[in-house]
Amino acid sequence: MARLDIHVLGSPILRQETELVTHITPELRRLADDMLDTMDAAKGVGLAAPQVGRIERLTVVGVDDQRFALFNPEIIRREGKIRWEEGCLSIPEVFAEVDRSAEVTVRALDIDGKVIEVTGTELLAVCLQHEIDHLHGKLFLDRLSLLKRRAAMRTWEEEKLQYPKLLRVLPVEDLPPEV
Ligand code: NI
Repeated sequence: MARLDIHVLGSPILRQETELVTHITPELRRLADDMLDTMDAAKGVGLAAPQVGRIERLTVVGVDDQRFALFNPEIIRREGKIRWEEGCLSIPEVFAEVDRSAEVTVRALDIDGKVIEVTGTELLAVCLQHEIDHLHGKLFLDRLSLLKRRAAMRTWEEEKLQYPKLLRVLPVEDLPPEV
């Protein structure tokens, strides 16, 4: 397994829509393993393919003792509301409370191409929603109110100066208006 470079806010690939995976090749299995390894090394609970510069619809999640590689994940059921403080490996040191569904069920293909369903609450639910957002070019910052997002971006403007070693630290992009 290898550790991959993580793209940080400003890298255009974080804003790209991913492509459905039609065939889980050995190379994609290796990618999933490398992403799990990278997630662990970065002490994260999830990592999506665009964060390592890839456009496949693939994310890995590791919450408590549950670890998954999910290809083409889709939320098929949501219930309730929860507010959770989130961060992102692509936006180091920036944290904010985000409103999410309290419980979700996700359908995906596992590493063997088998259809699986994962149901999560609390951190796992939040993580699944956060990672699936990544697969559609969306970041947790987009889900904040304008004021909170501005505060988060101010923090990032300072923090990003400490991350020149990470891949592609580019000027901060314009975020879309209020969502
Ligand atoms: Ni993230």
